[in-house]
Amino acid sequence: MEDSVIENMPANIKTTRLSVFEDSKQASDYVALQIATLIRERQKEGKNAILGLATGSTPKGVYEELVRMHQHEGLSFENVITFNLDEYYPIEPHDEQSYTWFMNQYLFSHVNINPHNIHIPHVTGPENHVKNYCDEYENKIKAKGGIDLQLLGIGRNGHIGFNEPGSCFDSVTRLINLHPVTRNDAQVYFGGIENVPKQAVSIGMSTISQARNILLLALGPAKSEIIKQAIDGPITPDVPASILQSLPQAQYIFDKNAAALL
Ligand code: PGA
Repeated sequence: MEDSVIENMPANIKTTRLSVFEDSKQASDYVALQIATLIRERQKEGKNAILGLATGSTPKGVYEELVRMHQHEGLSFENVITFNLDEYYPIEPHDEQSYTWFMNQYLFSHVNINPHNIHIPHVTGPENHVKNYCDEYENKIKAKGGIDLQLLGIGRNGHIGFNEPGSCFDSVTRLINLHPVTRNDAQVYFGGIENVPKQAVSIGMSTISQARNILLLALGPAKSEIIKQAIDGPITPDVPASILQSLPQAQYIFDKNAAALL
């Protein structure tokens, strides 16, 4: 990254909110350490840590490191309450493409979290049940006191959660239509685009914005173009992640490939 280019970024982001690491492992370990530190701080205070969690290829290394810390450094998840960002609709929780399956596979089945403390916005049944379900999900987050730390990836179209381009900044948990780029990127997991669900439930832009800490993790060269737009471009619903520029509690954690165009 060249200093002359960095000068174009808003000064507060450049100096206080951006961390670029040599490789994806270092970036992931840094994020895992921040999560573990929060969990331990809350434990000392006798409080719960409310985590907003993400799925996809990006956070796998974070979960791997958290599992290692649980197994080898005594990191306990007893006081952890989780809310996942999103889930496909419709999908069965035991399907390997579901985010319920993903979270069990990469994190929950390896740590001592109380299953009652796990929340994933999975809903079955007709669409007219979904609105109530989404309102309840939003209310549950509020009832737990809000999210202490929200982990985010970013889609190649700038989505955070499944808040696709055009998502209003005041949106809450809701049923959304998946963007063609999102469905295209998911087809490798579903064995063809025709098998990728057309909809999903996602927490909203407003829900994310209210988290007390936000960590956006981006890894690899496929994210460099959208990262440039999200950080250097205007704050616009066309690039949902651009909202993070306006949120001082948001940190950007990239490997050098994702940060290559900054
Ligand atoms: P990925 O997806 O981690 O699989 O790249 C990120 C996202 O779509 O939020």
